[in-house]
Amino acid sequence: MKDSQSLGDTPPEEFRKQLHELADWIADFREHIEQLRVAPDDKPGAIREQLPKRAPEEGESFKKILTDVDHIIVPGMVHWSHPMFLGYFGWTSTAPGILGEILSAPLNVNAMTWRTCPAATELETVVIDWLRQWVGLSDEFEGVVYDTASVGIMHALAVAREEAAPATRQLGLTDRGLPRFRIYTSDQAHSAAEKASIALGLGEENVIRVPSESQFRMDIDSLGRSVAHDRQNGFHPMAVVATVGTTATASVDRIPEIAKICREEKMWLHIDAAYGGGFAMLPEYHWITKGWELADSIVINPHKTVFVPLDFSVLYVRGLERLRRVFTLVPEVLRGDTIEGEKNYMDYGIQLGRRFRALKAWVIWRSLGRAGVVARLREQIRLANLLADWIKKDDRFELSAQPSMGVICFRFIESDEKKLDQLNSDIVERINASGRAYLTQTKLRGRTVMRIGLGNVLTTEEHLRNGWELIGNTAADM
Ligand SMILES: Cc1ncc(COP(=O)(O)O)c(C=O)c1O
Repeated sequence: MKDSQSLGDTPPEEFRKQLHELADWIADFREHIEQLRVAPDDKPGAIREQLPKRAPEEGESFKKILTDVDHIIVPGMVHWSHPMFLGYFGWTSTAPGILGEILSAPLNVNAMTWRTCPAATELETVVIDWLRQWVGLSDEFEGVVYDTASVGIMHALAVAREEAAPATRQLGLTDRGLPRFRIYTSDQAHSAAEKASIALGLGEENVIRVPSESQFRMDIDSLGRSVAHDRQNGFHPMAVVATVGTTATASVDRIPEIAKICREEKMWLHIDAAYGGGFAMLPEYHWITKGWELADSIVINPHKTVFVPLDFSVLYVRGLERLRRVFTLVPEVLRGDTIEGEKNYMDYGIQLGRRFRALKAWVIWRSLGRAGVVARLREQIRLANLLADWIKKDDRFELSAQPSMGVICFRFIESDEKKLDQLNSDIVERINASGRAYLTQTKLRGRTVMRIGLGNVLTTEEHLRNGWELIGNTAADM
């Protein structure tokens, strides 16, 4: 009997066959990924054109669906798991990560309360604490898993808002004679602060971008001046979002000095360690954790640097009860589920239904162990420094920022200064269109630069050397 014709589920024998087929598909994909183009060269709409406009009336076979994945979906993708994918923050697909992700599919639970899945809830608490210990964060911090850092910062700032304007949870912000609240972050920080401000009704314009100094760290004097200026003008300085591993250059803000200002001014300190946080596992990177104990909240994205497949982001709050107070709200239908003594993670955010994300983290972290994670992060750093050395030795290029963690920003400089921005952008575009490698471009101090973000376990020194040759040859051809 065809699976599409039966009521209920696919018959077990047929399902088993499909799973074996899928297992082979996944293993082949992983083994031969290097033979794929890193990115497609299609025009927008090219994939849609190959797909029917209406959903099928009758069910179709898995074989047919998988054939379309091969012919339409895979060629239409940017392959973040490709060893020549060097853009954004390099991705962290690993075989154990894939296994963890697959394992969670048949379980398919809703981890909203302890009772709706004790194992999901308790495992979440366990893996959050493993990571806390790995990065050396004090046990005053407890956490919650969200999908992304952007969601984490929104929740952190919701608590900051509640503490600055008590009863906002009940009454909202309007018609209460409240001052305008300000949030400070550097001009290098991620736009997640603005997104959070928009969502929380604090207003995008109330996120103040503090200038950064020569090493792309928040300028502390400017922060102090901005806060003082705002106070004099009737604003209420509410929070600072400091960054450990900024998006463009992976620079690290001077947290102890920022924390001191936050303490003096009674502002919430949120640390965005979405990218950089994972590197705190390395003893030689312990310096990035200075001042963390003074923070109110910290976000770390293990899906960026601790090898968990997207999505998995942890928000740590010093005194997690502060977060619970803002978001706990038990619908009548769940009242019986809210057992005392264990966490109900629905109480720690706006989301009710929650995936069993902890499972994949548990699988990958057990598979690699702390030592395996650390060794792989060290290799990323070694490769990043190697590339930086090649750039320094080549007169046609210059480093645009100190290499940090797995991030290197650089610029082709062998041309008329006026043409350089366009030229650097064109080099990146041409390489990306070639399908042979994938880089990012960004602006630093108003100048366009090329940017490589390492992180893929499949990227070896040989891949990086090939990438560097491709960059050099493409620049020479322009
Ligand atoms: C420093 C930093 N913070 C926050 C984010 C947002 O991360 P997410 O995609 O998890 O929301 C990014 C994204 O790259 C980032 O680089």
